[in-house]
Amino acid sequence: MNRTIAVALLALLFCTSSLAQAVDAEKLAPYYPTPQTIVDKMLQLGGLKAGERVYDLGSGDGRIVITAADKFHADAIGIELDKDLCKQSLDRIHKLHLEKNAHIVNGDLLKQNYSSADLVTVYLFPGFIDKVQPLLDQQLKKGARVVCHDFEFKNWTPDKVQNIADDGDGRSHTLYLYRK
Ligand SMILES: C[S@@+](CC[C@H](N)C(=O)[O-])C[C@H]1O[C@@H](n2cnc3c(N)ncnc32)[C@H](O)[C@@H]1O
Repeated sequence: MNRTIAVALLALLFCTSSLAQAVDAEKLAPYYPTPQTIVDKMLQLGGLKAGERVYDLGSGDGRIVITAADKFHADAIGIELDKDLCKQSLDRIHKLHLEKNAHIVNGDLLKQNYSSADLVTVYLFPGFIDKVQPLLDQQLKKGARVVCHDFEFKNWTPDKVQNIADDGDGRSHTLYLYRK
């Protein structure tokens, strides 16, 4: 699947979920998980080290949080609005005995404090990602990194852009690394 089709699919998913949750004005993207191969690349590009704190904004089924805690030995926190996805994440964290390093907050990602983050990962819908950028601008400490999947921040210049032509399922991805 190429990038245009992926964006169209995201738009369709977003409209469907918006209709289902018309009163939920805070939904910044539908659930559309990052493939595991890309999760690994995001955390590698972000230079995540053991003991560092990473936040995934809109953590879905927790795969970024779980990988960060399990493979990178980081202190990982996911923020997710959807209760079912939080439960799925917590069940998997429990199964893998990662409770010490992997945490899920069931809440609005726009209402959290990211000042302790070393790395933030973002896979949110274009347009809505613009709401996140000023928040991170305000809160992130100097030197903190941000990795965005497929959709970039408008007013920040990336340190690095990584294009992945094929994730193994024929889908291309672009990752953007920013540094505060
Ligand atoms: C495109 S998915 C990405 C999931 C995961 N980060 C990944 O890369 O696999 C976006 C996620 O953000 C969540 N989300 C959207 N708006 C949110 C908000 N305001 N606060 C917390 N989570 C939100 C959605 O429920 C969805 O699970």
